[in-house]
Amino acid sequence: MAKILLVNGSPNEHGCIGTALDEMAGTFEKNGIETEILWLGKKAMPDCIACFKCQQGSGCVFGDAVNAVAEKINEYDGFVFGSPVYYGGPNGRLTSFMDRLFFSVPDEKFAGKLAASVVSCRRGGATAAFERLNNYYLMENMIVAGSQYWNQVHGFTPEDVRKDEEGLQTMRTLAQNMTWLLKNIEAGKKNGVCPPEYEPKTFTNFI
Ligand SMILES: Cc1cc2nc3c(=O)[nH]c(=O)nc-3n(C[C@H](O)[C@H](O)[C@H](O)COP(=O)(O)O)c2cc1C
Repeated sequence: MAKILLVNGSPNEHGCIGTALDEMAGTFEKNGIETEILWLGKKAMPDCIACFKCQQGSGCVFGDAVNAVAEKINEYDGFVFGSPVYYGGPNGRLTSFMDRLFFSVPDEKFAGKLAASVVSCRRGGATAAFERLNNYYLMENMIVAGSQYWNQVHGFTPEDVRKDEEGLQTMRTLAQNMTWLLKNIEAGKKNGVCPPEYEPKTFTNFI
């Protein structure tokens, strides 16, 4: 059974993003897709200190949830990263987590897997936050799923989000689209449609 990891970057476990991710999880489960929700908690999340130790293959020096996810990365067929909007961008907790996760896990472990971002704001800044999060996947050969609208819900409280019918529908549609993509990938594999064979990566610095 395919499995999706949904990461909640909000310090409020059952807040607005939690509500949006629960809506997606419900749709995935109805479609026979296994889900795991990871809440990043309230404690300070270390940011990347550019020590490059992770490039030696032993994970991030800070350990924590980054290495826990990295160790299980092969179990996941897709990822959803959810963030509240803070000053027009995703919050620091989630971007610190994602910087270290995407830098420490070898690119090929993400390639060909599904990814989506979900953001929540009271009023504004959703698209800027959404675009910022999409940058991670779009340089990892991941398949970025969309919905009927940009993946955002609106609210200050979970009760507000539950009233945002279009936002919740956007979440369900996103989960439907991800399910459909997973089924297509699976069917393709059975019919000999293989992922692309990539060239060795060129790394050019403009010096
Ligand atoms: C530090 C901080 C900055 C915020 N900045 C914005 C913002 O730029 N735009 C906005 O509409 N809401 C902003 N908000 C409100 C949250 O984005 C919004 O309430 C969100 O839905 C909360 O999600 P959560 O309950 O999952 O944490 C901010 C909240 C905090 C705590």
